[in-house]
Amino acid sequence: MQAPEMMDATQIDDRTFCLNSWLPVPGFGVLAVNSYLIKGEQPVLVDTGLAGLREGFMRELHKLIDPANLRWIWLTHADADHTGNLVEVLKAAPNARLVTTYLGMGKLGMMGVPLHRVYLVNPGQQLDVGDRYLLAVAPPTFDAPETTAMFDPVGRNLFSADSFGALLPEPVKQARDIPEDTLRQGMLAWATVDAPWLKMVDLAGYAAGIRRLRELDANRILSSHLPLADATLVEPLLEILASAPDAPPFVGPDQAALEQMMAAA
Ligand SMILES: [Fe+2]
Ligand SMILES: [Fe+2]
Repeated sequence: MQAPEMMDATQIDDRTFCLNSWLPVPGFGVLAVNSYLIKGEQPVLVDTGLAGLREGFMRELHKLIDPANLRWIWLTHADADHTGNLVEVLKAAPNARLVTTYLGMGKLGMMGVPLHRVYLVNPGQQLDVGDRYLLAVAPPTFDAPETTAMFDPVGRNLFSADSFGALLPEPVKQARDIPEDTLRQGMLAWATVDAPWLKMVDLAGYAAGIRRLRELDANRILSSHLPLADATLVEPLLEILASAPDAPPFVGPDQAALEQMMAAA
């Protein structure tokens, strides 16, 4: 894969959809970049994809819903792979409030996002979206302090933000199609890239964070950076993430190695 690609949107359960794209990672393979839609009584869009795929992202979103009917945009955090089409979506969805934390609001303000659209929700709090209460969750790994994952107790879906992402050799539709060792190595590589502070973490506190996720008893893990992980994978993925502080830290290539990788790609 030479350039980011937008795939066709897919259905996850009766109300939940995935807007799936893939980003090439030179020398390492690809990374999924997922946004999600919960098409409930008050529709919720979770993240807004890559700016470089704006046309495809908006096309897939329009296939699923008239954006004017969106009521909430749940922003897991303010990184470019989650906010890429935020301004466009806000324009197309004048009835939607933007869910983030106070720090997220500060970052979005610097991007020019109108603050009156923001609705603050902190981890541990719930958001009433008519037919369900979405629970804001602090994920165990993250690369931005405002990161807020979310649990939908109706679909029992855990929208885990950057957590549970994996660098993969090629795009796949479902995480269960990935060989076990490839999945483990890809997840540990991503976890150490995305959360380089794992080496400094208090292990008991980290284990408690994993335990709190386990207690949610999720039926699926819907990561921003992993294909759909169904119920059979929830426990194996929790175990892999629990071992992440022991993984060797990621060291990126230097310029010479990068040039070799790019030439070979
Ligand atoms: Fe991130
Ligand atoms: Fe991300």
